[in-house]
Amino acid sequence: MITAIDDEQPLHVFDLPQLYRKPSAEELLQALDLLAIKPRNFGSAADDAPRKVVVDPAGISQYLTSIVSSSLSWIKSDEAKEEVWNAAAARLSERSGRTAMPSMSRVFHIPLSDAQEVALTLHEPSLTADNLGMKTWVSSFVLSRRLHTILDAVPELVPSESTTSQCSQQKVRALELGSGTGLVGLSFAVLRGASASVHLTDLPAIVPNLSHNVDLNRSVLESSGAQVSTGVLDWSVVPDTEPTREERYDIILAADPLYSPEHPKWLVQTIARWLSTGLNARVVVEMPLREAYLPQVEEFRQRMTDIGLGIIEQGEEVAYDDWETATGDLIEVRCWWSVWGWSEKV
Ligand SMILES: C[S@@+](CC[C@H](N)C(=O)[O-])C[C@H]1O[C@@H](n2cnc3c(N)ncnc32)[C@H](O)[C@@H]1O
Repeated sequence: MITAIDDEQPLHVFDLPQLYRKPSAEELLQALDLLAIKPRNFGSAADDAPRKVVVDPAGISQYLTSIVSSSLSWIKSDEAKEEVWNAAAARLSERSGRTAMPSMSRVFHIPLSDAQEVALTLHEPSLTADNLGMKTWVSSFVLSRRLHTILDAVPELVPSESTTSQCSQQKVRALELGSGTGLVGLSFAVLRGASASVHLTDLPAIVPNLSHNVDLNRSVLESSGAQVSTGVLDWSVVPDTEPTREERYDIILAADPLYSPEHPKWLVQTIARWLSTGLNARVVVEMPLREAYLPQVEEFRQRMTDIGLGIIEQGEEVAYDDWETATGDLIEVRCWWSVWGWSEKV
């Protein structure tokens, strides 16, 4: 039995069950569970259990490899052996970086007001280097948790005058760009309920999981009256025809959308194309201020200004990445959020 040792020295790999002693499958699985690098829901959700036992990272990979390559011949049940090998392989893949993480489902708690929150469940398939939308990123988490205050602070976030005059029941039309797993768009949908229709979009490889996540949250969406759809919208593609006034959106949402040199240009051209021209149209974005991408954030700000959009509200906040380091430390990320509207001068 491995004992918890809060506030004491970390365990060493030699304190874990050693194969030459022929430990049972249960003992091995217990040890392997201690070695899991678990997602922390960005270090702030109530359901984050504090880590009870810390294991010194030195020698862990070797320990795991020895389990994966052992025949475990003293364990009689093939099923139990399989479970041990799988757990050891999963711990190894967690240590090869975020991109090798296995698939998982996570619950995110999103405030609807200061007193009320809703739980959204998102599936995150195993992440591959070129499919970043398979994971929920920290700025979408903090933006979703902030959305209710942003929306309170910007009361003119209502259907544009052009659309309300045609029909008093008109919903706010919201578009999310680069939705990934859909946290921001789904949060907006639940917050606005029956008064909004929300279209979540991303690249073709990402949309099937995005649609799956909409289905996973069907009951909470239905009870709020929200109307949600999903579809492909690739920022790099410029269609021949312009959208009509009715096809444009009152609000465009995006979290963590800039990570390649073309992204600022593509993103802003997509915003220019799809944002309603009414003065109450809004763009709400949040992005991490990671050193390597600061020029792209600056280019994004410049391009938004160039097309006639100005910042109505903005702020910075410190958030924590959802993957701890091997030693259990949290990774701090500075994030910038902003709400944009058309400048009256344009
Ligand atoms: C870092 S992820 C952020 C995902 C999600 N917004 C979040 O914060 O969890 C960037 C997202 O942008 C999407 N993306 C990248 N290039 C794109 C493009 N050309 N058109 C549409 N989406 C794109 C990716 O597929 C991915 O889902």
